[in-house]
Amino acid sequence: MDSTLDPKLQELLVKLQQKYAVMGQDMSSYLDGLLHSDYLTYWDYIHLDTLLSLQNPKTQFPDERVFIAYHQVTELFLNLVLWEMEQMAAKENDAAFFLARLERINRYFVILADSFSVMTDGMERDQFLKFRMSLLPASGFQSAQYRLIEICSTDMINLVDVQFRDDQAMAGNLELQLQHLYWRSGATELASGKKTLTLQQFEQKYMKKFLEAGMQYQSKNLRRLYHTWFEKDEKIIQGLREFDQLANVYWPLAHMRSAARYLHRDPEDIKATGGTNWQKYLPPRFQKVIFFPELWSEQEKVEWGRAGVERALSGGGSR
Ligand code: HEM
Repeated sequence: MDSTLDPKLQELLVKLQQKYAVMGQDMSSYLDGLLHSDYLTYWDYIHLDTLLSLQNPKTQFPDERVFIAYHQVTELFLNLVLWEMEQMAAKENDAAFFLARLERINRYFVILADSFSVMTDGMERDQFLKFRMSLLPASGFQSAQYRLIEICSTDMINLVDVQFRDDQAMAGNLELQLQHLYWRSGATELASGKKTLTLQQFEQKYMKKFLEAGMQYQSKNLRRLYHTWFEKDEKIIQGLREFDQLANVYWPLAHMRSAARYLHRDPEDIKATGGTNWQKYLPPRFQKVIFFPELWSEQEKVEWGRAGVERALSGGGSR
């Protein structure tokens, strides 16, 4: 090897050669490639042009761009939550790793709950009430990542509509539980039993994926991991309680504040694009979704979602 070459560089080249040799690859061809390749740029690395080409309003109302971009920001954070959960499910019995990932998830949800004012206070009501008609019957209700986070957090039985949750027939029957998920009931007309078009479209695209995820995470959702490895870990218990509140009380209340600001009207509220009876459907105290029921007292469960109402309606933060 050329003695004028920096010893660090020599060492790196030797390591590179070994790396490629293991796969039967000739390092010099790769060095050749490197010689001709362009320097990476920030805009190429994060695909900035593609990212900024994804906000396509259906109308001329300027605030529609705010609405689209904030949904996309939320979906990117929901994707990071799922990425942490995937790594937690793949790691066994590592409390430090689990807690660190749980704290990341809680941080993402604090950002999502506290930043929801971008929606509630960051658009003109007039504009919103006009451009929303162009996105019927689409609704955030159709966020698949939101549902996957629920499935990766707890056992499916805890996502069943509260009126069927204690049915004996439900126990251990994943397919029956999937049929009675709270959000499926929420988007089904009680009288006629007819599903909204929003729900029909959503089910057609994602129900198979939700069943697969339900089976895949049956033994390694966060609740299962807690029971398997961390039942005595106080810090993890506190982190899971905080996650339960953030995902099932504070974010839903921050979101509901938006619905109330834009859709509340006397004497009759404005119908939601997804067709649910949102005043009855959205409040966490009605949905009663609790990922870790064993971590709450009976009193706390009875009052679920109430504590946060005043706080959320007064614009208080999520922590
Ligand atoms: C002005 C802002 C918003 C308003 C007025 C609003 C309104 C609503 C309403 C009325 C529903 C009930 C379902 C329906 O019938 O459509 C709903 C559900 C939902 N929205 Fe929004 N939304 C807003 C922003 C967002 C954003 C930014 C997201 C982020 C992804 C989002 C995600 C969801 C989810 C996940 C549901 C289902 C919630 C559940 O099942 O408990 N929404 N929204």
